[in-house]
Amino acid sequence: MKIALLAGDGIGPEILREAVRVLEVLRGEGLKVETEEAPIGGAAYDVAGDPLPAATLALAKAADAVLFGAVGGPKYDALPRDKRPEKAILGLRKECDFFANLRPATVFPELAGASTLKPEVVSGLDIMIVRELTGDIYFGEPRGITGEKGSRMGFNTMRYTEAEIRRILHIGFRTARQRGKRLCSVDKMNVLETTQLWRDIADEMAPEYPDVSLSHMLVDNCAMQLVRNPRQFDVVVTGNIFGDILSDEASMLTGSIGMLPSASLDADGKGLYEPIHGSAPDITGKGIANPLAQILSLAMMFKYTFGRADIAARIEGAVRKALASGLRTADIAVAGEKTCSTADMGAAVIKAL
Ligand code: IPM
Ligand code: MG
Repeated sequence: MKIALLAGDGIGPEILREAVRVLEVLRGEGLKVETEEAPIGGAAYDVAGDPLPAATLALAKAADAVLFGAVGGPKYDALPRDKRPEKAILGLRKECDFFANLRPATVFPELAGASTLKPEVVSGLDIMIVRELTGDIYFGEPRGITGEKGSRMGFNTMRYTEAEIRRILHIGFRTARQRGKRLCSVDKMNVLETTQLWRDIADEMAPEYPDVSLSHMLVDNCAMQLVRNPRQFDVVVTGNIFGDILSDEASMLTGSIGMLPSASLDADGKGLYEPIHGSAPDITGKGIANPLAQILSLAMMFKYTFGRADIAARIEGAVRKALASGLRTADIAVAGEKTCSTADMGAAVIKAL
């Protein structure tokens, strides 16, 4: 198992360190894992003038899986778009064709009180958001800003080919098949042609999956339903930008964005695994970041790329135990609760493992 470790910026290195400690425990038990690190994002810009250096991309391509921290920071906000840290993650997704992004939102029983929503609304929540990751308005051409000051125009292009829509919908249907057999496809067909095509194709494909019940929902309604009655969802499948927004929203149902892992897979099951949160410059260097989204991303790697659901379950069980022991990083503590450090949480997971 060859794993590329790309820590990136902000809290990236702090949380990745904890996931690597988990990996080292497994290696100590005889699991054959090889790891190699490379700079990415602002950290790579600082040393190589490029957020996604060729050597980093080559390492990611040669590995079976990538464990990714986070990229970005205020220091890099003024850089031209093609030098910005975000370019690194977008480039990596595109170059490696990691088109299928799985973002689970599950509420750990211990944390039902940490959500800003009432526990009776979120407890037991278990949603999987399947987000298309290499198309849509994120990558569509033409794009840009033209004109003179006073009459400038900004423009982007939302586009999806039939093939792109089909392959992500297949992932959606198959994911639903392995879970509660309900797939909700989210679009904005009342306004956007791209997503009318999306809905038409979903309907065309539905007979191939007679065991899955397909429904459609407009994205604005979905945003509302996610906070009104989130447990109505099993699997949600949607395009890149809607998935970006809805997955942040879904994360807060679980108590903290610091809890949510993700997998981004290519057609062969190779993948990039990263927390859905960002580099959190406001808490960088304080040792208080929640490492659990990163550790749970490692668990997803074992499940989806290495076919070791047993190891994934073991890591998830260890996370649950650490939470059950009462440890809380600041993001998941409720008022008055004592908080612990990134390293304390990592150590508790390893102990439970
Ligand atoms: C995410 C992030 C990225 C995205 C950014 C950092 C480019 O928000 O992974 O959800 O928009 O996809
Ligand atoms: Mg996002």
